[in-house]
Amino acid sequence: MAQDDHSGSEIAAADSSHAANVPAVKTGTALIPTDAFENPGFPPHRPRVTDEDPAKEKRAQRTVYTLFYLSILGSVWAIAAYMLFPMEGNNVGDVRLNNMFVGLGATLALLGIGFGAVHWAKSLMADVELADERHPIGGNPVAREGAIQVFQDADRESGFSRRSVIRNSLIGALLVFPLPAVVLFRGLAPQDENPVELLSHTMWKQGTRLTLDPSGVPIKASDVTIGSAFHVIPEGLAEMHHGRLEEKAKAAVLLMRLNPEELNETEERASWSYDGIVAYSKICTHVGCPVALYEQHTHHLLCPCHQSQFDVANHCEVIFGPAARPLPQLPIAVDDEGYLVAQSDFTEPVGPSFWERN
Ligand code: FES
Repeated sequence: MAQDDHSGSEIAAADSSHAANVPAVKTGTALIPTDAFENPGFPPHRPRVTDEDPAKEKRAQRTVYTLFYLSILGSVWAIAAYMLFPMEGNNVGDVRLNNMFVGLGATLALLGIGFGAVHWAKSLMADVELADERHPIGGNPVAREGAIQVFQDADRESGFSRRSVIRNSLIGALLVFPLPAVVLFRGLAPQDENPVELLSHTMWKQGTRLTLDPSGVPIKASDVTIGSAFHVIPEGLAEMHHGRLEEKAKAAVLLMRLNPEELNETEERASWSYDGIVAYSKICTHVGCPVALYEQHTHHLLCPCHQSQFDVANHCEVIFGPAARPLPQLPIAVDDEGYLVAQSDFTEPVGPSFWERN
């Protein structure tokens, strides 16, 4: 151990046996630890078969570019499989086939690049072991010259410029590899429908009854007492077999009844409620979580995801949190039998903002 006490026995003069292992120091100021260990150096160099046998080098070269071409094949197959095995409707078998074949293609693409690069490095690139001293980060001209030299040496030793077949096959594999992702992203959008149209409309239309979620039982205005809140879906949604979740994700509604005097309604929306009963979209305008927590005394709705709060008494305006706009209101009325019905669809898109929202 090095100590500060210059007179201590632990402090030793530079030992000639350590001279090769310690950094250069100024005479008279250096404290040389007495427990420095010997640098074991590199193990003896063992040439590889590809260093000694040109035929084996050739074979390794063939293996490397074959792996890169296999990667290209995998990427192309992933794209083709995505089209050959489409996911239609809610058929789980289709989803399985699509995922399996697209996954196999992507796996082959990744493994081809990975194995090819490793095999190239291990069997063909220069087999020289180097020790690189740590040095300050900085760009003096000499260091920059050195860096350029390193790149040139690496290029020469790896054969990146010289072995053009391998290089080009690697570049080809890297260029083709992201293509399956582009195709898969396209699949996130609806295939034959205009996504803007889909996002702008819900199942609600004039005369659709408000029903309980999930039973689908219609709700009478007389069932809704002051202070109560109901989770609501449009009539007919509970019986749907296809696309039920997609429709519910847009049409879910919260129904609440306040004392009519506590509602601050604008003139334009005064006819959108019924005797203190109001209906608002349950889909948070931040990133679309269900706004499911209602505080009866303050008339606040809370979104549990990022704590946005909406004031039901004031058209669900945002009073806290990251949401940027109020929850859309569903205009409601009562039919001849006393059931709550929608006057129309929402007058604006529900949920988070999107790029073509009006
Ligand atoms: S999704 Fe509601 S606050 Fe973020």
